[in-house]
Amino acid sequence: DGLSAEELFSKSNGYTYQDYIILPGYISFDAANVTLRSQATKTITLNVPFISSPMDTVTEAQMAIHMALYGGLGIIHCNNTIEEQCNHVRRVKRFENGFILDPFTVSPQTTLEYLDEIKFKHGFSGCPVTEDGKLKSKLVGIVTTRDHDFIKDRSTLVSEVMTKEVVTATQGCTLEEANTILKNSKKGKLPVVDKDGCLVAAISRKDLRKNRDFPLASKDAGKRLLVGASIHTRPEDKARAAALVEAGVDVIVIDSSQGNSTYQMEMIRHLKSAYPSLQVVGGNVVCVAQAKNLIEWGVDGLRIGMGSGSICTTQEVMAVGRPQATSVYHVSKYAREHGVPCWADGGISNIGKIAKALACGASCVMMGSLLAGTEEAPGDYFYKDGVRLKHYRGMGSIDAMQSKGGSADRYFSEQAAVRVAQGVSGSVVDKGSLSRYLPYLTTGLKHSLQDMGVRSVKDLFEAVYDGSLRFELRTASAQSEGAVHDLHSYQRKDFG
Ligand code: XMP
Repeated sequence: DGLSAEELFSKSNGYTYQDYIILPGYISFDAANVTLRSQATKTITLNVPFISSPMDTVTEAQMAIHMALYGGLGIIHCNNTIEEQCNHVRRVKRFENGFILDPFTVSPQTTLEYLDEIKFKHGFSGCPVTEDGKLKSKLVGIVTTRDHDFIKDRSTLVSEVMTKEVVTATQGCTLEEANTILKNSKKGKLPVVDKDGCLVAAISRKDLRKNRDFPLASKDAGKRLLVGASIHTRPEDKARAAALVEAGVDVIVIDSSQGNSTYQMEMIRHLKSAYPSLQVVGGNVVCVAQAKNLIEWGVDGLRIGMGSGSICTTQEVMAVGRPQATSVYHVSKYAREHGVPCWADGGISNIGKIAKALACGASCVMMGSLLAGTEEAPGDYFYKDGVRLKHYRGMGSIDAMQSKGGSADRYFSEQAAVRVAQGVSGSVVDKGSLSRYLPYLTTGLKHSLQDMGVRSVKDLFEAVYDGSLRFELRTASAQSEGAVHDLHSYQRKDFG
């Protein structure tokens, strides 16, 4: 029955994920035993093939930390200053499960009024107090709500109410040791100090309850979380790359909607000669001819997609691009022969599309909109018509191009007197925390591979290229049949 991937994608039409379906295989194993390990770049393998987009409404430190904890990878966007981007990278590299490495800190001269404001905005009820209110300064006390909640005069200073005898842990102790001290102290927060008594971290009782292991976490040889960051191809981006390398970045993604350019050639060659072990991902590409160039220039991974993203208007405005499934199949097949892993970037709106992208030969998927509404994405929630939302915008939207970092260069629009948008700005619904959402995506993907009858991403690729995985095109009515239909109304809850 059906067609092999080669037969399907050799047809003259270009196909999107929506246009076809995968026929079921034979199940002889449990979904829990499916392994999702996959190559992200020539030297980096991830336990879960998920990568978050370098977009200013998707990936900053919190997103990247969680992507890496759950086995994937986050790429910090570059619509910011070099310093801001490097700070995000450093926060990921310095992350230690359970330790807060940048605890909110106040000085003895802070007023209770200010503490009230902080509690209202961020929910912190206990703060370490240092001489000048900064991290790495001498710890002089701790102030919690219990120290001041009955004091009427809110102009009172912290120095008058704080607890000066503070139980602390010493830098270098394990999380387990710190947790024991915290439990015995019966306090809400435990400051961690260095040998000179300066504050370097804290652990909190609230987190203690939430603490868990992350056996799939993506880590470097020094056991620090992996992180990527994007740059453009302007001359000044060489300085950005240098700073990112200094901050400890593992992967640099050259962010361009059309990667087959002199600018990208120059940047790839520069990065690979200046930092030989740095992993450089180029793109975006959708054709073999483009991929051939980038591979020759030395990339360690390729990003595939042009105009397929949820916020993209590139295909409409530029008349250039390609339907995503066809792009992923052809580019991945070619890149595989040259040992270069590919990321299917854009248009991933559910688990089925992740599975279809992998079944086209992508080693990993890159996601924007799917992750944008989570708690760990940048930005605050807001309500519209009773629905809880977060902003999500294309990096080629006028909004993003005009903001401080200016992403215009991704779209070769930097020098132009009139900026031509290639994306829109909108919103996506609240998806809760990645700590529930990523396990949902991972478990769902394992079930999908089980239905195809493959135990791993590696086995999936074998089935794609030996033709044993079978595909079928779907008519428009087949697509409606495959979606929810014929109900008066329904409620949808995707996981529980
Ligand atoms: P999804 O579908 O996951 O797509 O939301 C995310 C990907 O879309 C690309 N991107 C853009 N493409 N105009 C475009 O044509 C834009 O403004 C834009 N912003 C992001 C990018 O590849 C991202 O990973």
